[in-house]
This record gives sequence, structure tokens and C-alpha cells, in this order.
Amino acid sequence: MGRIDTLLATMTIEEKIGQLNMVASTLAITGPGQLGDVREGIRTGRIGSLLNHWGADEVHAVQRLAVEESRLGVPLLLGLDVIHGHRTIFPVPLAEACLFAPDLWEKTARAAAEEATQDGVALTFAPMLDVARDPRWGRIVEGPGEDSWVASQMASAKTLGFQGQDLAAADSLAATAKHFCAYGAVTAGREYASVDVSERTLREVYLPPFSAAVAAGTAAVMPAFIDLAGAPMTANAPLLQGWLRRELGFEGVLISDYNAVAELMNHGVAADAVEAAALALKAGVDIDMTSDCYVRGLPEALKRGLVTMAEIDVSVRRVLDLKDRLGLFDDPYRRGSAWPHGVRDAERRELAREVGRRAIVLLTHRAAILPLPPETRRIALIGPLAAASREMLGPWASAGRAQDAVSILEGLKAALPQCRIDHATGVDIGGQDTEGISAAVDLCGGAEVVVLCLGEAAAMSGEASSRADLGLPGRQRELADAIFDLGKPVVVLLSSGRPLTLPWLFERADAVLATWFLGGEAGHAVADVLTGRFNPTGRLPLSWPRLVGQVPIFYRQRPTGRPTKAGEHYSSSYLDVPATPQFAFGHGLSYSRFTLLDFKCDPSSAKAGEFVEVSVTVANDSEVDGEATLFLFVHDLVASVARPVLELKGVRKIVLKARERGRATWGLSTGDLSFLGPNLNRVLEPGRFEIHVGQSADPAGLLTEVIELTP
Ligand code: NOJ
Repeated sequence: MGRIDTLLATMTIEEKIGQLNMVASTLAITGPGQLGDVREGIRTGRIGSLLNHWGADEVHAVQRLAVEESRLGVPLLLGLDVIHGHRTIFPVPLAEACLFAPDLWEKTARAAAEEATQDGVALTFAPMLDVARDPRWGRIVEGPGEDSWVASQMASAKTLGFQGQDLAAADSLAATAKHFCAYGAVTAGREYASVDVSERTLREVYLPPFSAAVAAGTAAVMPAFIDLAGAPMTANAPLLQGWLRRELGFEGVLISDYNAVAELMNHGVAADAVEAAALALKAGVDIDMTSDCYVRGLPEALKRGLVTMAEIDVSVRRVLDLKDRLGLFDDPYRRGSAWPHGVRDAERRELAREVGRRAIVLLTHRAAILPLPPETRRIALIGPLAAASREMLGPWASAGRAQDAVSILEGLKAALPQCRIDHATGVDIGGQDTEGISAAVDLCGGAEVVVLCLGEAAAMSGEASSRADLGLPGRQRELADAIFDLGKPVVVLLSSGRPLTLPWLFERADAVLATWFLGGEAGHAVADVLTGRFNPTGRLPLSWPRLVGQVPIFYRQRPTGRPTKAGEHYSSSYLDVPATPQFAFGHGLSYSRFTLLDFKCDPSSAKAGEFVEVSVTVANDSEVDGEATLFLFVHDLVASVARPVLELKGVRKIVLKARERGRATWGLSTGDLSFLGPNLNRVLEPGRFEIHVGQSADPAGLLTEVIELTP
């Protein structure tokens, strides 16, 4: 008998259920109802895993209780939300998505895993793979943006990065793909609200990133808090047991979200903790995170015949198996003992700076005032986010510390030692006090340029942080207007966890950059871009709305019978605002100017199984070295099911010196032209397809060729 069989045969029912019980430590609070001291529960085998507990000594101390003092000595599984870095904090995931660079996505996850495992952590609740098309939802900051293809690329990169080559290694962190699924589609962007999407949208948009995570070997998956058309995900047997386990063959661990098993009662599908526990377990949820329903409910559920011992055993086996794969049985203290803190810290900070500057999106640049000329001698740095180092870490910074974060003020000072930088806050982020505005305006008097740092507080996005108004909070608009009225050159830096709807600001500012929450190196990253030491290359992973009334907004629209047409009354449009976004998916300016030419698809007709080489020349028509980003979209012109007007199939980045040209190529497989047919089975239908390349999803900038798929 193997180790796990022997253990299973020896365990009491309480010990088995203990393995399915994850309890919160009091080190960090990420949900309601903390349970306080857990030591006794560990000793008696009633707790199999712990979340929010880290630090090598702290982890080893609780691990000793499990290994040395519990009857069977089964090691604990230590989980933590290591979302975008652990001690070294990288840009928030939505900002990282702007890189369109799977190699860097993987690197930051690897770095996070190295640091978190040094702190004894064995499991992260990441990556978050929720496609989101509604920026009212605060959790849009945690994810990959609006596109399923991008989300799938991120799923693979992050999973590989966290888990490394060998899950048992001392620096490998088990990944949890979350939140399964369609959480991003909460009604009206309101946190935890119900979701109701079609089976087709589910399969075309929301499920593919989870397939990618499973294909990359994710150790765990977390069902979302929400219900899908009345079936709460924590008890959604068709999707968990049916799609994920049977259809996809996922054999890892399903971990409920925080208290979500108990919340099945609030959803109205379980009368008590016993029914809630039975529903979740039968749906395949192995670990109950913090709700205590498995402990309280499963013994009674067994008596009532709602679950069987065999079903409990299946889940216990999966949990023990994960502990085994993580090497915890062989050496429970491996994580946290391999090397001391500090090893390769500088390298990781450099990575944070590189990823930080790559995440910055130059949204507008009307007056060519960037980069700041080297002879600049006086800058007024104004606004509530200018010297806000804590905010730079974003809403969920694991073990990141405010004192390690570089504010924009600090970054600019370090980059421009010869320059006088006057700083004033003007107003608070969300406050109503306008008294500081006149002093801030006065400070701008002698400045050659004003850098205005506006946006949201970090806590205004993330979990439980939906907003219905996506304008600037508090009195920031008054501050901005007073500064614009001076008539000086103004560069705006927008720190936020989501796109903000600010058409007036985009009209008035000379340049606006989306700087999101860039992490510990935020200030240096911003300074690199403002000074031209780094030429911006970040691209939007979502369509940026003009007004809240346009959301949900995304490029992958289906055609309508009455296409949007300016001036045409009976067309798909609004009376009061254009139907187009403020900035298209993929938008992002550069200090260079790129032109696309000589677009080819070769051959122009193909059969199933063949490839078409798609290529385009990119010309850097400027005197500045830079990096262009090219997007490849397809559109099936006539199909048995109406296909989106654009579907992303590839992205290329190409580095070009001033006046240099280069060619970007893709091998488009005919598989890329397949889709889910009328019965939701994958089909490849002969016919004509538009192939587009462009620098964003803005139709005005796309080059188009038509190819034919022949029978
Ligand atoms: C609730 C969140 O939805 C989830 O993303 C997170 O992993 C857990 N809390 C644990 O903190």
C-alpha cells in the first residue's frame, strides 16, 4: 500500500474531514469571521490547511504542531493570496496584462513563488483568470482584462511561473486558477451579484482560460462566489464534476472560496450547514475554506445519507496527494529553509521596474511634450497620488510593505537630480476638502511643466470594491480644472485599478498615461517613461469606456443587423455618446511612430490542417527607437452561427531602431478559424475569412485581407 492508502485506512472520520478543512490564521484578514487560535485544531488533526499564515518561523512553528504533535503527523498545507508578487510587489495583474508578454508574466510569477516559498507558503490563490468587461466591478484589477485569448496566455504563463518544473521543489508554489467561472460578468458590475450568461459565451469566453490553466498543470481551482443562472459555483456539479473533472480531466484540488460553502445557505440552495457541506462535496469541492461547514456538517450528512464515505475519501485523497506532490511528506520544512531572505532581491526589484514601465500605457499625447526635455529645470508635481507610496502597491500586496515602495515623487527626484520638483497634494483622493487647491495652483507658477497625479485609492478596486461612478473620486476634478486653467503644459498620470471615464480630462491634458498601481518600483518606472529613458510600449487589455452607460464594453462584438453608422438613426448606437470606446482594446501610444504596410496572407486559400503565413512590415517612421505591438484578428464572414467582428488570435512585439523596418509573421492554423457550431461542438466551416492586423482593435487602423478555407 502506498503512503496515502495507508493513511486513509488509518484515519478517523474526524481526521479525514480535518484534511478538508482550511482555516484562516489571524496574520492577515481577507474575509469575514476569523476563527482565532488554531493550534488545538492542528494538534488534533481537525485542520489540514491554513491560509494567511506566512514567515518561515511562523510556518515552521505551526507545521511542527501538525507533524510532531498530531496523531498521524500529516503536514499542513499553507496557502496565501500571492497575487502580484510577495515581498517584491509587481504591477497589479490588470497592469501586467498591458505587457502582452507571457515570458515576463511567467518571470514575475516565478519571482513571487521564490519569495513566498521562502516564507513557508506552499499554495497561492492565483492566478485570477476572470475575463472582465465591466470596470464597475472592482476585481477587474486582479485579472487579465476583457479577452479570453489573452487570459488563456496568462493562465499558462502564471501557472508555469508559480509551479516551476517540479512541484516538490523548495521554491515551487502550487497555483490555484480562480475564480471558476464567469465571476467577471456579475450583474451590473456589482460585487458578488448573480451571473447569467449563455452556454455559448461561457464556453467561448469564460472557460478557455481555465482549460489553459488545467493544460498547464494547475494544482488547484477555486470556484467563484457567484451563482450561474441560479446554480452557485460552489455547488455547481455540472461545471465542476462535469466540465472540469470529466471533460477536461482535472485531477487536482478544488478549494472553495472564503466561507463560500456556508454561503450556499444565503444563495438559497441549502437549508443548513449539513446540506451546504453535502452539496459542495458532491460537486467536487475538496477543501472548505473557513466556513467550518465540512467539520460541522459532513458527519451529519453521512448519517442522513447525503454523502458517502467513499465521496469523502475521494476528496481526502486529492488533498493528501497534493501535499505529497508538494513534497510536504518528505520534508515539511523544505519551504522556508532553502535560503535566507535577501538572495536575488536586487534582481527582482529590477524585474519589478522593467515590468512596471512596460505596464504604463500612454493614452494620449497631444502636444508632444513627452519625453520631458533633459534641460527641464522645474516641475510641479501635483495631486493626491504623487507621494503615495502605499497606494502604489495596489489593493492586494501580500507581504509587500509601504516603506519599500517608491512613490512617483521619489522616482522623479532620483531620475532628475538637476531639476527642482515642487510637490503639493491639492486634495485628498476621495475627500471633500478643496482648501489645498489654491496652494497647489500657486506652486505651478514657476514650473515649466505640471505633472498631475490623479486617480483612485488602491482600496477603491479589488474585492468588494465595485463603483457605479467611474469618474475621479472626491474633488480631484476641481483640482485638475484649476490647473488646466493655468494654460501650462500638463501631463496626467492616472493611478487606478480600472479604466476611469474622464472624457473631459482627455480633452484638456497634453498627455495622459495610465499608470495603474505599478508596485514597489512604481516611481522609478514612471520616471523612466517620463524622461524617455524607456519608450512606452504598454497596451490596453480592455476597451476603455467613455461613459459608464457603455459598459459592458469589449471589442469582440457580434455583428448586428444594423451596424453602427454615424448619422444613421436606425443603427446600433447611442443618441448621446459614440458607440466606440474612448480607447480601443490594444491602444497604447509610443514616442516612436509606426506604420504597417505590405500585409500578406500566403497562401490565400487553405484546407483543414494547413497553415497560412500572415505577415506585415512595420516601419518605425520616427527618430526614436521603440517597440511596436501588432495584433492579429480573424472574422468569419459567413458562418452557421454569427461570429464576432474581431477575434484575437495572436500578438507580436517587434523592436525597431529609428527609421528601421521589420516584418512580423504568424503561422495561422486553420484550427484558429474553427469555432463552436450550433450544437457547441467545434466545427471548421469552409468559406471566406477576413484576416486583420493592426496596432489595436480600432477598425480604422486595421489592414485587411480575405482568405478562403476550402473543403
Ligand atoms: C476571497 C477571494 O474571493 C479569493 O480570491 C481569495 O483567494 C480568498 N478570499 C482568500 O483570501
